[in-house]
Amino acid sequence: MDQSHDLEVLLRSRTPIIVIETHDEARILETLQSMAIRASADAYLPLFRWTVTDGLQRLDIALEPQTINAEPTDALRHIRAVTKPGIYVLLDFHPFLDDPVHVRLLKDICMQYREVPRQIVLLSHEVKLPDELEAYGARFDMALPSETERQAIVERLANEWANENPGAQVRVDPRAHAMLVHNLAGLTYRDTERLARNAIFVDGVIDKSDLPDVMQAKYELLNRSGTLHFEYDTARFSDVGGMDRLKSWLSQRRPVFRGERDTAHLDAPKGILLTGVQGCGKSLAAKATAGVFGVPLLRLDFGALYDKYHGETERKLRESLKTADVMAPCVLWIDEIEKGLAGRGGETGTTQRVLGTFLTWMAEKQRPVFVVATANDITSLPPELVRKGRFDEIFFVDLPRLRVRASILAIHLSNRGQSLSNFDIEALAGAMKGFSGAEIEQAVVSALYAAHAAGLALSTELILEEVTQTRPLSVVMRERIEALRQWADGRTVPSD
Ligand SMILES: Nc1ncnc2c1ncn2[C@@H]1O[C@H](COP(=O)(O)OP(=O)(O)O)[C@@H](O)[C@H]1O
Ligand SMILES: [Mg+2]
Repeated sequence: MDQSHDLEVLLRSRTPIIVIETHDEARILETLQSMAIRASADAYLPLFRWTVTDGLQRLDIALEPQTINAEPTDALRHIRAVTKPGIYVLLDFHPFLDDPVHVRLLKDICMQYREVPRQIVLLSHEVKLPDELEAYGARFDMALPSETERQAIVERLANEWANENPGAQVRVDPRAHAMLVHNLAGLTYRDTERLARNAIFVDGVIDKSDLPDVMQAKYELLNRSGTLHFEYDTARFSDVGGMDRLKSWLSQRRPVFRGERDTAHLDAPKGILLTGVQGCGKSLAAKATAGVFGVPLLRLDFGALYDKYHGETERKLRESLKTADVMAPCVLWIDEIEKGLAGRGGETGTTQRVLGTFLTWMAEKQRPVFVVATANDITSLPPELVRKGRFDEIFFVDLPRLRVRASILAIHLSNRGQSLSNFDIEALAGAMKGFSGAEIEQAVVSALYAAHAAGLALSTELILEEVTQTRPLSVVMRERIEALRQWADGRTVPSD
């Protein structure tokens, strides 16, 4: 691992405080121990470890812990009094950095570094260095395991499994194996190993069935902000009636998005915006996109981003986008994006910065994250979001035409175990003029209840009865829909 080389360089750079944020404490300690940094030609630098439970302990030669120094203040006073050079690795010292006495003691140690080079390594999952110490510190960024290293981890675990199961070999589907190594990207050594172990040890097989579990576990490790949701039920194209143009647009881009052969000269698809009449399947189509691309679906809740603390909102957004990058390839679905961006009154500053953060990420992203945003009220969206070039395309999802109503009806009847030959689909689709997909589905659902209550089988007549009792939104909101269509004309492409 050439990381140990980088760490060694940093240790030798005569920086008094080195900050390492990691969940992989054991690996860093191992690396430090294996380095054996020389203080001079004939002496190594002693290496100490401190924990609040055990106090100080010398690691380069095996010595018992000095529990007398378990108190953080005592430990720092002790280090300050030492007159020999040394490296002190303080594990989980971060909660004690709030204490001004500790800050001053650390500063004393740093200021005397020229005379006595005692180097402090702060090793925690998270460290916020106090301003007073910022000038003395440097951060060491843990690199994550590379493709080759992940390959080696999977191989090692497969061998381990074979050793524990004499006479057996791990059965490997080569495509799934490659995907597994690929999907483990973005995790620490420890987590990579844990997830790979789960995948292999459950059945001694590496195949396609391991991949969804790995993605889900990975997502759970990454998502700490809670504004990103892993959607388990993606939809299929066959669940969506109509939208033929959208479907063929996505199908054409599927191989490019998946990085399949002979697509290198084509631009990677970035994302689409779906807008239009409420209840006509925008959210459904967004879910189906993940199904078509065959990748996980992450939903970003723009509304939940807003935080009363200054700067927190953008931090949460950046963290969510980073998680999406690490989860790539994936579809990032932002449902009803206008709710997170439009008309938040006094918070316009925050809204502007959220939009800026999002657009910058969209423009610069290198990873295969395909964005599907939906909007019911596109007229309230900031113009910079709908400007040409932001999304690959803006699709307008209108009320379904006759043929599409028939197919939506067929989908929902079949979904509920009905045989299509029992119905006059054409007559029903004709009677449902002006109905949205959601209203078509609702008519089927209500008719099924009526049939059940009357002890009858569902029939064309029962559905027709529901239809005559429905006042579709297209009637109630005629003017609004007209306004949407006018806005969409020339700015968007019809989805159908
Ligand atoms: N084109 C469609 N094909 C199949 N079902 C649809 C369609 N449009 C709407 N539906 C049904 O109505 C439900 C609500 O639609 P939704 O996708 O939430 O609409 P929107 O996001 O455009 O408001 C869907 O879950 C689906 O069951
Ligand atoms: Mg919706």
